[in-house]
Amino acid sequence: METKSKKLSLEPYKGTRDFYPENQFVQNYIFGVWRKVAESYGYLEYGASILEETELYRAKSGEEIVNEQTYSFTDRGGRDVTIRPEMTPTVARMVAQKRRELSFPLRWYSIPNLFRYERPQRGRLREHWQLNCDIFGVDSIEADVEVISLAYDMMKAFGAKDENFQIKINSRKFLNYLADDYLQISEEQKHKTFKLIDRMNKISVEEFEIQGIEILNEKFDKLKKVISSKDPSDIAGDNNTTTGVSDILNLITSLKRKGIVNVVFDPTIMRGFDYYTGTVFEMYDTNPKNPRALFGGGRYDDLVGIFGVEKVSGIGFGWGDVTTRDFLETYNLLPQYHPPVQLYIAHLEGFMEEANKLADYLRKQGANVEVDLTDRQVSKQIKTSDKEKIPFALVVGEDEVKTGKFKVKNLAQSTETETTRDGIAAILK
Ligand code: HAM
Repeated sequence: METKSKKLSLEPYKGTRDFYPENQFVQNYIFGVWRKVAESYGYLEYGASILEETELYRAKSGEEIVNEQTYSFTDRGGRDVTIRPEMTPTVARMVAQKRRELSFPLRWYSIPNLFRYERPQRGRLREHWQLNCDIFGVDSIEADVEVISLAYDMMKAFGAKDENFQIKINSRKFLNYLADDYLQISEEQKHKTFKLIDRMNKISVEEFEIQGIEILNEKFDKLKKVISSKDPSDIAGDNNTTTGVSDILNLITSLKRKGIVNVVFDPTIMRGFDYYTGTVFEMYDTNPKNPRALFGGGRYDDLVGIFGVEKVSGIGFGWGDVTTRDFLETYNLLPQYHPPVQLYIAHLEGFMEEANKLADYLRKQGANVEVDLTDRQVSKQIKTSDKEKIPFALVVGEDEVKTGKFKVKNLAQSTETETTRDGIAAILK
């Protein structure tokens, strides 16, 4: 029986992207910069499966992520499985698993694709790639300074200027001090207040006031004072380790001493995950067109310990490709596309075999060479190479085979050089 079939959609799944070669080129460029700078600091690359048992995220990621944002399912064996929404629980699990064999401090990086069930919008998709750089086993502020310096150097490697971005710093210790000692509010109020601060930039000032008063009553004015403060010691006095103030101030001072001046204290930086214990930070583009963080991270000293092994402190950040692409576009920092192919070989009728022979020879010399596989007119073959933005082209015919000399066309400059096959290899180098 014939049924009328619905036309298949040409679109990728909602909130995900196809990467045609020119997009993949940009993606590879971003990954390349991340990799190069991470490795220059001694970070080692690791990887893992996109699937984890759901339990892993329930333990510490936080309610919003687990209840509203994960792709979760039950597998055929009855296990609850989640497609990873972030990498930190996975890396903590991996460190805990080999706790005794690994030598600390450990510097690791990875560029996983992550999945979150979000409403797709500028800077937010359902699948993104995220650089994760983390240090395990360093309790002191030196690790906090290093990870932020590393991210800063990556920004510089992308060509960003100091005035294009700002790194905002806060501390979970300071936030806890605020709630427990300064405001003296209940656990429920604390939870709601933190969520409200986290949403602050997404709602109107009036809405913020209404909800703030609803949660805190007369204490809301005190919260407003905190939010507008530029220096944590205005609220808690300085040199006090339990309030987190000295951590924040020392960190900012150390970074400034290294020449990283676009760092500020920002009491509204919360970070959505439950596992953070100390420093938290986020980096923002200063252009209001891109209001979402490029990277965010913090210290999570208790996460490895939840696997029942001895505690190992951790600090690191996640940095997404989507906001990075927007940033690079905004500041005109995207590299110009060029394919990896260097030379296109066209041929007259009956000379395809010779063309392939030449290509094989050049490939053995390390060149990237493409041979036209059709018997079209030579001009049409050359047009293809121009369209593909391949820098060089040549034609193989009777004369070339006889003399062993080829005319190498530089398509961008419209110039031509006659040379031998070794001469071609030299040009392509
Ligand atoms: P996160 O703040 O959820 O942190 O993500 C870090 C970065 O990933 C964000 O600043 C943003 O650039 C990007 N990102 C997150 N979600 C999306 C999305 N739906 N679409 C596009 N980009 C997105 C974490 O994931 C922590 N696990 C990072 C970390 C590593 N903390 C310590 N180590």
